[in-house]
Amino acid sequence: MDIVVVGAGYVGLVAAASFASLGCRVYCVENNENKLKQLETDTIDIYEDGLQELIQQGIRDGRLSFHPKLSDVLQSAQMIFLCLPTPSVKHGIADLSSLLHVCEELGAAIEQDTLVVVKSTVPAGTTARLERVIRDAAARHGRQVDFDIAMNPEFLRQGCAVQDFLHPHSVVIGARDNRAADRLARLYASCLHNPVIQIMSPVEAEMAKYASNYLLASRVSIINELANLCEAVGADIASVRNVVGLDPNIGNGFLNAGIGYGGSCFPKDIEALIKTANTYGLDVPIMRAVQSVNDRQKQRLVAHIIRRFGNDLAGYRFAVWGLAFKPGTDDMREAPSLDVIHALSALGASISAYDPAARRKAQMLLEGTSVEMAADKYEAVLHADALLILTEWEEFYEPDLAQLKERMRQPLIYDGRRVLKNAQCRTSRVELIQIGAGRDHD
Ligand SMILES: NC(=O)c1ccc[n+]([C@@H]2O[C@H](COP(=O)([O-])OP(=O)(O)OC[C@H]3O[C@@H](n4cnc5c(N)ncnc54)[C@H](O)[C@@H]3O)[C@@H](O)[C@H]2O)c1
Repeated sequence: MDIVVVGAGYVGLVAAASFASLGCRVYCVENNENKLKQLETDTIDIYEDGLQELIQQGIRDGRLSFHPKLSDVLQSAQMIFLCLPTPSVKHGIADLSSLLHVCEELGAAIEQDTLVVVKSTVPAGTTARLERVIRDAAARHGRQVDFDIAMNPEFLRQGCAVQDFLHPHSVVIGARDNRAADRLARLYASCLHNPVIQIMSPVEAEMAKYASNYLLASRVSIINELANLCEAVGADIASVRNVVGLDPNIGNGFLNAGIGYGGSCFPKDIEALIKTANTYGLDVPIMRAVQSVNDRQKQRLVAHIIRRFGNDLAGYRFAVWGLAFKPGTDDMREAPSLDVIHALSALGASISAYDPAARRKAQMLLEGTSVEMAADKYEAVLHADALLILTEWEEFYEPDLAQLKERMRQPLIYDGRRVLKNAQCRTSRVELIQIGAGRDHD
């Protein structure tokens, strides 16, 4: 099968490289010149486990190629996957401009018998709108094209995106007619191992993606609210979580207490869902609460620090371990670390930060602030009054506490991701303040 993937971002690159590894011939279109140049020389600007190797393999095998223009490759394939960004512009309105632009292009040039597949996360009704855009553009160019369109939301998680793409928990296909659904179902059935394929209407597929992100995000806000309560009553959220997580009706996914969720999906998708509800005159207090609990949680460590050091942090130095919004990625979009760093900088603190993958992207976002980037985790803590752990990278789980004590002004750690063991810190006489760990719990 020959396919086109439009957009070489976190989703598009993974989809393109994975389809190529499954035997498809993939033409990937990207309009960012720098990104394209890098891709043509086998390098990617994204940190994702196994992705670089898969891309190199695809290029070597002649199954994966990158192109600047959609029009150059349109004749090459009968299936076009749109993996374009849909960021939040204002008050939750999703910016559909890339999708609309590409659909205009498709209308002008699309061939008969093409299946357009929307992989981007889009508000209810967007797939139908994109279909109209393609049809209208074709009519304006005096063409009558017979194409199909399907919504095929993506459920991969950054950090394990390739594995998730190759072994999805389910493949969701939203299509108005059986022909489109069957075509896409056949592609997945032919290259994935026993996929669970669910076929529904486009609007149901659009809602299913938002529902999934909303439910996962709400679990994060619920556990964080419970964590704050545990701190107040002197309990440890870890014990509470172990109990509820073993209940098969609850399960333990997305129940890690911390400094809140971030990334390019949860924040914008909850906002977009609220916007959709409001458009239909519906109030959605639980959705709003999920969002506001998360906003407050991002400031939780800052509140602890102010209680200890006061409101004026001039002269204090803080080390930060972890900048990416989650481990396994270099993605800094909506990373809670940015909220924490901006808040501490605004109070006059100086900051030294380290992240194993996100250094370059963080540096660009933190330009103009007083943050210095350290080469490794021990360099970051030099002369620090406290260490903040903001992303749960594996290398932070068992640090050399003696080395930390030697380098820091005082051995104080704010663990925003619950990576350290209290007993170990106590033995090493390192003071540990963790989200959700009440002072009386031990
Ligand atoms: N990142 C995730 O974990 C994830 C998971 C599931 C779904 N999604 C959804 O998938 C979509 C894409 O997300 P992403 O994280 O991959 O975004 P991204 O910003 O990483 O990638 C989008 C890519 O599209 C390119 N692009 C923009 N306009 C273009 C055009 N006209 N022609 C060619 N290329 C163009 C951009 O340069 C960029 O490389 C979004 O709707 C997102 O909500 C993301």
